[in-house]
Amino acid sequence: MSQTLDHLFDRNVTWANEKTRLDPDYFRRMAEQQTPDYLWIGCSDSRVTAIDLLSLDPVACFVHRNIANIVHTSDLNILSVLEFAIDTLRVRHVIVCGHYGCGGVYRAIAVQRGAMLDHWLQPLTMLYRKHRAHFDRIPRPEDRLDRLCEINIEMQVRRLAATPLVENAWRRGQELYLHGWIYGIHDGLLRDLGPHLSSVEERDQ
Ligand code: CO
Repeated sequence: MSQTLDHLFDRNVTWANEKTRLDPDYFRRMAEQQTPDYLWIGCSDSRVTAIDLLSLDPVACFVHRNIANIVHTSDLNILSVLEFAIDTLRVRHVIVCGHYGCGGVYRAIAVQRGAMLDHWLQPLTMLYRKHRAHFDRIPRPEDRLDRLCEINIEMQVRRLAATPLVENAWRRGQELYLHGWIYGIHDGLLRDLGPHLSSVEERDQ
């Protein structure tokens, strides 16, 4: 038996009509060439939506999402997004934005292992094991996980900075800033964690 999800199409029509009512030019603007200033690299978690929480027009932000916002340097998907964003769209800012309460980060240190997802989360698991003494000094388990969410973001910004794509952009003098942010699902607010990197020299300090 087919299931066509008509109620979602109904919601879509209502949404499109409302957009046009509030802003008659909205879809004409959307149909023009995308000229984003930002590339957002975030978690797949559906509660963490770049456009909504930044209150941005969708044309302003190019988006890549995966579980736990990890920058795998052998991931064809993220490398293609990065190349297109830097070389073609010429974004000025790349934002890695994780979030507190990230299920992917929790999973990375869970006892249960062996799924494809655990391979994906491997860098995070390794990071946790390497800094185990640091985490063990944090008394509350939830604070430990929050700390891992934060350190994960810093690691991913540094991994971005190490990619030949970013390095080449910097070496040819292209303006490109990397940022590490975290989002609180509990209060809807962003926090700037850093690092802020905008050159090979800053990266290698
Ligand atoms: Co998450």
